[in-house]
Amino acid sequence: MAIATSTENFTDKFRQIGSVPTLPTAATRALAIVNDPNCSIKDFAKIVETDPALATSLLKLVNSSFYGGNSKTSDIHQAIVRLGLRETQNLILAVSVRSVFRWMPKGQEAERDRLWRHCSLTGVISRQINEKLGLGFRGEEFSAGLSHDLGRIMLAVGYPDVFSKLANEKTTDESQLLILEQQMLGFTHPELGGWLTTMWNLPDELTEAIQYHHEPARAPKYAVLASIVSLAEEMANYMEATKSAEGIDLSNNPGWAFMCAQWEAVDNLDADLFATAVMTDALPEAEALSILSGE
Ligand SMILES: [Fe+2]
Ligand SMILES: [Fe+2]
Repeated sequence: MAIATSTENFTDKFRQIGSVPTLPTAATRALAIVNDPNCSIKDFAKIVETDPALATSLLKLVNSSFYGGNSKTSDIHQAIVRLGLRETQNLILAVSVRSVFRWMPKGQEAERDRLWRHCSLTGVISRQINEKLGLGFRGEEFSAGLSHDLGRIMLAVGYPDVFSKLANEKTTDESQLLILEQQMLGFTHPELGGWLTTMWNLPDELTEAIQYHHEPARAPKYAVLASIVSLAEEMANYMEATKSAEGIDLSNNPGWAFMCAQWEAVDNLDADLFATAVMTDALPEAEALSILSGE
């Protein structure tokens, strides 16, 4: 898909500094193969096993209580059987996105951990929104939520001075961040994130959801997915700022507005009750993903 900004600039920039973050090869292969109807669990397990770090993190997640780890396994094949291919794919992406955080410069550890909590929480809230509204996504919403702020990691890698200035603002209001980014850089983190996932050849829907997560109605093909992420991100920021799952006002959220305009049933929902249920039910999985924090 076409990226609005000049992708050339980003490519040159990251080449110059010699650090274009890549997805682990095993992750790229595992993410590609899962859509192949002939893909067997055995093939999939083989790919995961070629990357010991990926395999270890995956087992750690599978053995956590959230993913039903009552009977512990150290066997990747068994772990995939337990999770199913789709869910394994989701968790591989989670582990891979987490590994990209390592590219953030020294001195940004606190911000890195905060950003990971924000991204993982946005991912699990996206999953709850999808489930509760019956939107029919099968994990794409989790992946999109989880990776929506990859552009902010890339800011830290490529533009560390601007990144620390923005981090010092300590704001959870991302529309404010976008204005500052535009002023300081002439582009924003959703554009940079979209460039990265295009370069990684991730599916268009993921790139669109990332690129348009602050203005979902402008997404050419995947506005619903972008809307889920927009809503999830606002909820995640709210939970981080207030430590509460109650009292959020969704009336200015562009993702919520898009979905209300799209479906009467959503428009008729009690927004307060819906938001509280989503945020409360997202917490256990967010807790499970925090296992990856120290990776
Ligand atoms: Fe965000
Ligand atoms: Fe964002």
